[in-house]
Amino acid sequence: MSITEEFELIGMQRAGEAVAFTLKEMTQYAKPGMTTKELDDYGAKILSGYGAKSAPRLTYGFPGCTCISVDREFCHGIPSGKRILKEGDLVNIDVSAELDGFWADNGGSFVLGEDIYHHQELVNASKFILKQAIGHIKGGVRISDIGYIMENGAKKRGYKVIKNLGGHGIGKKLHEQPDELLNFRNRFDRRRFAKNSVVAIETFISTVSTYADVKSDGWTLVGDKGGYMAQHEHTIVITDGMPMILTAMNGIWES
Ligand code: CO
Ligand code: CO
Repeated sequence: MSITEEFELIGMQRAGEAVAFTLKEMTQYAKPGMTTKELDDYGAKILSGYGAKSAPRLTYGFPGCTCISVDREFCHGIPSGKRILKEGDLVNIDVSAELDGFWADNGGSFVLGEDIYHHQELVNASKFILKQAIGHIKGGVRISDIGYIMENGAKKRGYKVIKNLGGHGIGKKLHEQPDELLNFRNRFDRRRFAKNSVVAIETFISTVSTYADVKSDGWTLVGDKGGYMAQHEHTIVITDGMPMILTAMNGIWES
């Protein structure tokens, strides 16, 4: 969406706060021994306290409130009473929701407890790349140039990017134009970011895979060559300068 009225900005700020607070609380609440269903139920309570509704459930009929992906699952993992979190797991939580007609999206990967499998470096790379990408977005900047920054940031650290996942416009719906905000330079993409528009920028930084495939459950995405992936996502409003980060409470800026 493009923000033209003050009530739209206020509405987006409230939706941004709801998803950011929920993600932050869920990340802190996650403990080894807990099921991903318990973690999702905890997040569902916080969201409903805001009067917010799960975006993937509303939009796609997703069988959960938030997406929780563990270990080799890349994203869109279904919360399950059978999936038990373990020390050192690479966990991704993605919270998106609608509040009073406004939609926001916020996600992040983290290592649960002690980093016994050495995933922290991948997580840090993804966080840093998102921060760097956001720092370069303003009205008039080419979408493909931001893709280049992400791809180059991954390459420099010995990682790859997932080519068939991307960020997206957001605001009046979960997924809007501009779609396919990819993590690499697509030289056929002539589009530019527009001032006052709202987008969800997401990284998809992986160890070996370059494509994501859907598992037989119809939702969960895994890598075409396996390995691990870290994702970080913020909903931002584009300006003439530094973007306004609507989900900053769960910060790439604080850590
Ligand atoms: Co998301
Ligand atoms: Co998103």
